[in-house]
Amino acid sequence: METVVSGIRSTGKLHLGNYYGAVQNFVKMQHEYNCYFFIADYHSLTTHPTPDDLHGNVKQVLIEYLAAGIDPEKATIYVQSDVPQIAELYLFLNMNAYMGELERSTSFKDKVRSQPDNVNAGLLTYPVLMAADILIHKATKVPVGKDQEQHLEMARTFGNRFNRLYNTEYFPESFAFSFSDKLVKVPGLDGKGKMGKSEGEANAVYLSDSVEVIRKKVMRAVSDSGPTEENQPKPEPIQNLFDLMKIVSSTDTYTHFDELYNKCQIRYGDFKKQLAEDMIIATEPVREKINAIAADTEYLSKVAKIGAEKARESASKTIREVREIIGFRSF
Ligand code: ADP
Ligand code: TRP
Repeated sequence: METVVSGIRSTGKLHLGNYYGAVQNFVKMQHEYNCYFFIADYHSLTTHPTPDDLHGNVKQVLIEYLAAGIDPEKATIYVQSDVPQIAELYLFLNMNAYMGELERSTSFKDKVRSQPDNVNAGLLTYPVLMAADILIHKATKVPVGKDQEQHLEMARTFGNRFNRLYNTEYFPESFAFSFSDKLVKVPGLDGKGKMGKSEGEANAVYLSDSVEVIRKKVMRAVSDSGPTEENQPKPEPIQNLFDLMKIVSSTDTYTHFDELYNKCQIRYGDFKKQLAEDMIIATEPVREKINAIAADTEYLSKVAKIGAEKARESASKTIREVREIIGFRSF
């Protein structure tokens, strides 16, 4: 059976981008593959070196994974830092990752721009740690959103380079995966670009947001004064809201508003109200489980403990073999 690995950084609660771009695929994949889903707390230190509540953030992602329907009986759910073998593989891979290629990564360049006072080596080698996450279980499929494609290409580069250097065929190649034919990109509410945690509180709708907060955020989403010509192309803020509607609403609803737009009869108030209600319905099953799961600390510890054990078992096998391939021997 093919192995799947994916993770989300533990920088706080999950938004609809995380949910539709990644977690929904996790939930579907757990029935068909050998799945490892983790919480990337090492990675979170690249942008948040001294988090106020590291453990609380990890716990929040764990709760939301479970609320979204990842079943710890089917998939292995674990916290990255519970598996130190990942850090060891990261060290080995770092020896064969080159400055030039790391500096060219778009996510690194973005971070240099967004956090100029903290361009640390962890940021530079972020894709190496991500490759270690994937290679540690010899995964072939990685459910992620579109923004992670370049990182996966780098993971293939590092795995293939290891194979070439040590004259082995040890690591398989891994590819981004989505059940829909294209990788998903969920737009934000601020009229430009994707939904993300770093783009400000109002841009993202969180799985843990209350119904009232969702309504308020959607009603305040950036739009414009409306179309003036029939069938005119949609400017980015409007296209983004339609893209969101395509994700959460029925085809009929989408077509209805699309036709109104094309006939210049759309009223954005009605459009947004419908979008908010459909978003609320689409996320209801997750929202209603979050509080109950959060209250059950015993269950959370059990899930994390069992997950860590299973992940360490697979990871220590890989590390044993990798050490052997490189040439480490014990006396
Ligand atoms: P953020 O961008 O908010 O910091 P992460 O980088 O932690 O979120 O992303 C975790 C996962 O969620 C990744 O698989 C990523 O591809 C996916 N993801 C994040 N934002 C989006 C989005 N707007 N659309 C689609 N997928 C997304
Ligand atoms: N870089 C990913 C993100 O920001 C998170 C991540 C870390 C990841 N390691 C991974 C995703 C391994 C898939 C596989 O979204």
